[in-house]
Amino acid sequence: MILQIEYLTKQYSHKDGLINAIDDINLIINRGDFVIITGPSGSGKSTLLLALFGLIKPTSGQIIFNNERIDNASDNIKAKIRKKHTGFIMQNFALIPYLTTVQNVMIPLSLQGVNKTEQFNRASEVLEFVGLKHRITHLPRELSIGEQQRVAIARALVHNPSVILADEPTGNLDPALSLEILDFLRKINREKGITVIMVTHSPTASSEYGNLKVHLKDGKLVENKELISVHP
Ligand SMILES: Nc1ncnc2c1ncn2[C@@H]1O[C@H](COP(=O)(O)OP(=O)(O)O)[C@@H](O)[C@H]1O
Ligand SMILES: [Mg+2]
Repeated sequence: MILQIEYLTKQYSHKDGLINAIDDINLIINRGDFVIITGPSGSGKSTLLLALFGLIKPTSGQIIFNNERIDNASDNIKAKIRKKHTGFIMQNFALIPYLTTVQNVMIPLSLQGVNKTEQFNRASEVLEFVGLKHRITHLPRELSIGEQQRVAIARALVHNPSVILADEPTGNLDPALSLEILDFLRKINREKGITVIMVTHSPTASSEYGNLKVHLKDGKLVENKELISVHP
């Protein structure tokens, strides 16, 4: 087990009243799982993903990561855990526009204090893995959308995280590119044994990918289907 969530609830207070963005969620994720989180817009998917790694503080409940309770840890400790163990892929890629491909990918290593030469070498290696070795000095705007998303994947991978969190990573992509990115995530999951937790709207993704499917509705977990484990 890599991640356990117990009775997790997040309420937002809004001028119109309290919103239960996620409501009493229990979930166990094992190392090497490929988790697919689906649900209608506003059902709490992003909130769950952000809460999992301490980017928002849950109102109640517990999050246990690697046998350690992290929901009540200090911001400093949570940031350390995130930097070391997690990679994020967002729908809008969140690449830094004035940094080149390789510089964008070096960021997580720079945050860990790795020296510049090693940052460059490791970033180049991961860019080769995602098939972008020939684009390392391009700026994000000089890349196609699919290439930009692969840079985001490389950046999420470069520090060998144990978990990759992806919030609708194919949301902006056409069907062919979406499949390419999903296949990439599967490759990372299978070849590197990295746990992938992905929020998606894509019907293909939710039917063809992943061994644990979680469906949210109004902040509640309404379906939790365990399929054959890829990593028993
Ligand atoms: N910062 C916030 N303040 C108030 N309400 C929020 C905030 N963030 C999200 N919500 C509300 O919480 C619910 C869940 O949001 P979200 O997790 O973003 O849903 P999803 O990712 O499934 O579309 C929605 O009703 C949304 O409007
Ligand atoms: Mg969302």
